[in-house]
Amino acid sequence: MFNKMRKTKEIDVPVTKEEVLRHPIPSHVAIIMDGNGRWAKKRALPRAAGHYEGMQVVRKITRFANELGIRILSLYAFSTENWKRPKSEVDYLMKLPEQFLTTFLPELIAENVKVQVIGHTEALPDYTRRAVEKAVEETSDNTGLVLNFALNYGSRSEITAAVQQIAKDVERGALAPEDITEPLISSYLMTSGLADPDLLIRTSGEIRLSNFMLWQLAYTELWFTDVLWPDFTEQHFLEAIAAYQRRDRRFGGVSAR
Ligand code: FPP
Repeated sequence: MFNKMRKTKEIDVPVTKEEVLRHPIPSHVAIIMDGNGRWAKKRALPRAAGHYEGMQVVRKITRFANELGIRILSLYAFSTENWKRPKSEVDYLMKLPEQFLTTFLPELIAENVKVQVIGHTEALPDYTRRAVEKAVEETSDNTGLVLNFALNYGSRSEITAAVQQIAKDVERGALAPEDITEPLISSYLMTSGLADPDLLIRTSGEIRLSNFMLWQLAYTELWFTDVLWPDFTEQHFLEAIAAYQRRDRRFGGVSAR
């Protein structure tokens, strides 16, 4: 009942950009962009058409996030589990970063966006890795929105790699076991240097994290919507931020209100 009331409240309140800008904006927004396949299926189109449309939404939401003054936008574009998809779909998904970055890199540069990537990029096809490296390099001095793509990313493998590296550093005497603190662990993750997300959005009605930033999301506000990613608009993004702004973030303490 309580959840239902909250949901109704979150969805029914019309919100404008001006209203949202009157309150603190989440600094880091992370998005699990889900529902491309279902969007295509509803239109009797191939799944690739859903991913293509999803890419257009990435462009739109990146631009809008930058306009709103969000500092970091992390997008889950390909998970370590996505290799299990049919080869033709994986091949298509691997072409998207190149397509996106080739088409929109001038625009990203003009808009002062800084491209970053987390994930096991060494296992990506050469053309995908090269496109990403080029974008990272050419935007490295930009000071606006950080557009952080998670590509071949999985949180458990990220944490496993961090634990292995910490163990090696202890073994060679560079670290003492007492040095292993929460900030130190954060610094060994692929997101090192990025603040934890304030808000996580997942589209398409699935209510799970799917191995995305499990450590980093410890205190993040979560917002789920039934909207499929290719249908996601600036207005939905504003609704998510407005919902975040209505929440009372206590980080385990007591209310400041
Ligand atoms: C999940 O939808 C989506 C993905 C696995 C890929 C996400 C990729 C994009 C949004 C394209 C943009 C990428 C870049 C790099 C610009 P799904 O296929 O699981 O959908 P379904 O659950 O409805 O089948």
